[in-house]
Amino acid sequence: MPLTEDHVVSSLRRTWQPAANAADLPPGRIIAYTLLETPLVIVRFADGRLLAADSACPHKGADLAQGCLRNGHLMCPYHGWEFSNDGTCQSIPSLLEPNPEKLALSHLHTYVIQERYGFIWVKLDNRPLADGRPHELPAVPEFDDPRWTYVMGPPMKFAAGWRREVENYLDMTHFAFAHASSLGLCADPRIRDMKITVHPDGGYQMDAPFPALDTSHEMQGKLQSAHRRLQRSWLPNFTTIRQTFTDGDERVLVHIPSPNTRESCTCFWSVSISPGFKGPPADKQIEFAVGVLDEDRRMCELQSPREIPINPGRGGWGVLVTPGDTLANTFQKQLRRWLLAQQGETE
Ligand code: FES
Ligand SMILES: [Fe+2]
Repeated sequence: MPLTEDHVVSSLRRTWQPAANAADLPPGRIIAYTLLETPLVIVRFADGRLLAADSACPHKGADLAQGCLRNGHLMCPYHGWEFSNDGTCQSIPSLLEPNPEKLALSHLHTYVIQERYGFIWVKLDNRPLADGRPHELPAVPEFDDPRWTYVMGPPMKFAAGWRREVENYLDMTHFAFAHASSLGLCADPRIRDMKITVHPDGGYQMDAPFPALDTSHEMQGKLQSAHRRLQRSWLPNFTTIRQTFTDGDERVLVHIPSPNTRESCTCFWSVSISPGFKGPPADKQIEFAVGVLDEDRRMCELQSPREIPINPGRGGWGVLVTPGDTLANTFQKQLRRWLLAQQGETE
């Protein structure tokens, strides 16, 4: 069965997607975020409660993300209607007399929202996935372990589809070219010992030795040294890289490209380092990684079309691949299976 981008959107609506770094949403803050073509208003009220709702006001469609907090409620900037954290309309200032029916009709369209791993997550459709269960976030114990140092990266917008970012993150054959000035010219594009495993949940992982990089960059000391690299991906778009260095230190990175539209995404990411990590401090690692990610952004935005075709085809996936593309191809195949399963189909 050929898949369409509508299938992709309807399936991803049932998954948790990051919409902000939690630190960028302190109590009293209102932000706008577009998730899967849906413009949202996201609020953290002064008492800490969260709200995610369609950003268009039920009255005349004004953008509630341009509103403010008043009386403990979200107030529309146009006619001052007020909404509480569960989306209930609490006040319509222009009413001549109380009208509970009018208030009841003016409920916001709200979505489930949670804070975890330093991100604010929103799910647009809380119905179960094909396995009969609502989507849950993968467990990454290091992110909850107080002994580890956990630092958030600044979210980065890509003018490219989310699958371009996933594929880029899985790809180790571009380092010597796209990252020549940051990671090093001497990165070997031939990945000789890559072990790929598919998990029962449809996710997959790649385990490979990573040779030391020879570069003049100042960060080369630790992060460029030889290590084992375990990439674990949970469908549809949650990927961690665990690096185990020869001295036993570990680093776990996560990337989640949250789809804004069919051709753009925001990459949410973080870095966690093991206790007593011997190397650059976490904030310096983030600074360096921002530069690397910006090089990746440029590569994703150079590709045409802006999103990887969802069905196999030249320039998309499944053809003209090299051994180094095996992991990206595994992603495409597993994603396709997962999407088909959401439609009640198999290959
Ligand atoms: S448009 Fe929001 S109160 Fe009128
Ligand atoms: Fe890269």
